[in-house]
Amino acid sequence: MATLRVRPLDDADRAWAEDALRELTAGPRIVSRGRLYDGRELPGLVAEYEGRPVGLLAYNMIDDECEVVFVGAVEQGVGAGVALLDEVVRLADDAGCSRAWLVTTNDNTPAIRFYQRQGWDLVALHRDAVKESRLLKPEIPERGADDIPIRHELEFERRLRS
Ligand SMILES: CC(C)(COP(=O)(O)OP(=O)(O)OC[C@H]1O[C@@H](n2cnc3c(N)ncnc32)[C@H](O)[C@@H]1OP(=O)(O)O)[C@@H](O)C(=O)NCCC(=O)NCCS
Repeated sequence: MATLRVRPLDDADRAWAEDALRELTAGPRIVSRGRLYDGRELPGLVAEYEGRPVGLLAYNMIDDECEVVFVGAVEQGVGAGVALLDEVVRLADDAGCSRAWLVTTNDNTPAIRFYQRQGWDLVALHRDAVKESRLLKPEIPERGADDIPIRHELEFERRLRS
C-alpha cells in the first residue's frame, strides 16, 4: 500500500526544497502581506510518498499566529497538500496559536478551491497587494494561472482552539 508521511524539513532536504520552490513558485523568495521571506530559511515540513519527497510546507510562527508561507506539491493529487496542512495545524495548535493563516493570489483558483475544501476560511481580500509585493520581488509575473492578472492577495485562516 502507498505510504504518505510528513516529517520536519532538515538540512539534507535543502537542495530538494530549493528545486521544489523554483518549480512551484517564482523562485525561493516569497512575499506575503508586504514581507519578503526566503523559503529556504524558514522551518518546514516535507511530505514523503513511498519514500520520496513530494510536498513542501514552510511556516513562520510569530506570537500566537502561524503563517503558512508556502505549501506545494511536486506530485499533486496524492494527498501531500492535505497531510502538510493537517500537520502544520496540529503544530500550531500544540504551540498555543490562536490561528493558522496563509495568503494566495487571486489567479490561483486551484489553491483557492483546495484551501476551502480543507476547511480554511476566506477572511480578507487585500486589494492590489501584489503591486507592493513586486517592489520586493520584481520576478513575480504579471499573469498567473489561466493567464489571469496577478493583483490581489486572498487571506485564509483556520481558527484554533487555544
Ligand atoms: C494546491 C496544492 C498545494 C494542493 O496540493 P496536493 O498535494 O495536490 O493536494 P492533495 O493531493 O493533498 O489533495 C487533492 C485532492 O486529493 C484528495 N486526497 C487526499 N488524500 C489523498 C490520497 N491519499 N490519495 C488520493 N487523493 C487524496 C484530497 O482530499 C483532495 O481532494 P478534492 O480535490 O476532492 O478536494 C497543489 O496543487 C500545488 O502544489 N499547487 C502549486 C503550488 C501552489 O499554488 N501552492 C499554493 C499557493 S502558496
